[in-house]
Amino acid sequence: MPQKPVCIAQISDLHIKRPGAMAYGRVDTAKALERCVAALNEFTPAPDFVVISGDLADTPTAEEYDHLKRLLAPLKLPFASIPGNHDAREMMRAAFPASNYAQSSGPLDQRIEIAGLDLLLLDSSVPSKPHGQLDPATLEWLNATLASSSQRPALLFLHHPPFGAGILHMDRQNLFNADALALIVRRHPRVRLVATGHVHRATLTMFAGVPTTICPAPNHAVDLDLAELREPSFRIEPPAFHLHTWFPGEGFGSLVTHQVPIGQFDGPHPFFGPDGKLL
Ligand SMILES: [Fe+2]
Repeated sequence: MPQKPVCIAQISDLHIKRPGAMAYGRVDTAKALERCVAALNEFTPAPDFVVISGDLADTPTAEEYDHLKRLLAPLKLPFASIPGNHDAREMMRAAFPASNYAQSSGPLDQRIEIAGLDLLLLDSSVPSKPHGQLDPATLEWLNATLASSSQRPALLFLHHPPFGAGILHMDRQNLFNADALALIVRRHPRVRLVATGHVHRATLTMFAGVPTTICPAPNHAVDLDLAELREPSFRIEPPAFHLHTWFPGEGFGSLVTHQVPIGQFDGPHPFFGPDGKLL
């Protein structure tokens, strides 16, 4: 049997409101998360861990975090989360008191070890602002943590992309101090992936020499408007999550990211019959 990879699922931008309320008057984000949790629970092989990369709540309020926790309760997999611009640090601290935060106040950074991988969760939120910025304390912690080992691959997670995706109203609120992050990433070859959210779209680029992704959302997508043709808008597109898979091996092994659609789809059906011939 081939070895099973280490599987890290990433879900992002849940935007949970109080029960019964719709995001932007029309998106049932609670239903979308229910479907997402079901998809994660059903996926085989079971992911080893789930990272939620920000915008867990929407307004935010304590009632929204209570609702979020009820919706996440059926999730059978271990998870951790970082704030986005729709979150509030202290409310998140209160909602997830068992989390092992690197700092006792301020940014909610976390290091999580999963089967030979380091997951470094960076809090890029700026209280009451839509854009992202990594605090000096976060940058210092990241550099020191990366320096503490040279062998283990490290995956970085943060809410705000450190690059412009070409959707200008979102690019104006991405990570403002991306240069400071790039300096650290270039210093530590064990960083194998930078995984973000915020734009509700599957996106891939290179940043500081490392593959860098935006995770799609379980609910609505930011309209792919690359020329400011329309007012800032969203569309209901196929919901999805990311599955980062790692095969240990020479050097830092091999890391592959899959996009997994959320929903019920026909199949799987065999390609071959009992006689080994193509059907
Ligand atoms: Fe966001």
